[in-house]
Amino acid sequence: MDTKLRIAIQKSGRMAEKSLSLLKDCGISIHSGPGALKASATNFPLEVLFLRDDDIPKYVSGGVADCGIAGLNVVAEQGDLDAVVDELDFAKCRLALAVKRESDYEDTSFFEGKKIATSYPNILRNFLETKGVEASIEEISGSVEIAPGIGLAAGICDIVSTGSTLLQNGLKEVETVMLSQAVLIQAPDLDGNKIILLNRLRSRMKAVRTAARNKYILLNAPNSSISKICALLPGMKSPTILPLAEEGWSSLHSVVPEDMFWDIIDELQALGAQGILVVPIEKMIV
Ligand code: PRP
Ligand code: ZN
Repeated sequence: MDTKLRIAIQKSGRMAEKSLSLLKDCGISIHSGPGALKASATNFPLEVLFLRDDDIPKYVSGGVADCGIAGLNVVAEQGDLDAVVDELDFAKCRLALAVKRESDYEDTSFFEGKKIATSYPNILRNFLETKGVEASIEEISGSVEIAPGIGLAAGICDIVSTGSTLLQNGLKEVETVMLSQAVLIQAPDLDGNKIILLNRLRSRMKAVRTAARNKYILLNAPNSSISKICALLPGMKSPTILPLAEEGWSSLHSVVPEDMFWDIIDELQALGAQGILVVPIEKMIV
């Protein structure tokens, strides 16, 4: 039988849709009916298992799945950070401590002798240890934000993304415990054929990530400004410069990091750049 790579991804929740669309952006077609817990790709030797996010690290470390997309927070809680092979640049969030909005909070000594509710007892225990704070940890598996309001705990340690759940529950964020995002994890002891498939998948994922971080830029500029504009645009190697029909003008094409674009737009215009187009890149192999 031909080797297939088995990947575990979240069935439903914050990472589910983006995990599937990442596979799709990698050119992999998956046909899965609603509610299906397993599906196969039609054009890549890949089988997809749809699981609860908290179960993914266990399935991967136990070798039931060869790899998986999981939240770094969950992987860290389960003490499996060695399995992480790539950060995937989505589902960014933080694990944070929060207290009632009206609490007078100054520093972590606030929690001394108090109770903190969390689904992340291991990460929280380490954090409190490094801060030298003795607090008791109340482990609960969901709806953690309700705990301070009902008198179960003085504070919570939970995932914050937009912050709207904290707001709705009258809480304020006071400490960042760890930053998290979706990561690719790998099973121990994969055989050679699976490693080859995994590396193919990883390089496709990398091309998608790199493309998402960059934009293709096209602009027209007077020849006298071209060298200054080139200095602003690093490009992959160097910008492409083509003469325009209008004498003394050129068209310039380059690649710029998305986050840098807004910083240089004013300078480009000041240098006489016109007709600036910024377009998304679908895949970028560097
Ligand atoms: C987290 C966390 C909060 C919410 C915060 O749940 O438990 O309820 O997200 O997001 P917000 O800051 O955007 O309001 P998650 O989606 O990780 O689900 P799970 O804990 O049930 O896996
Ligand atoms: Zn979860």
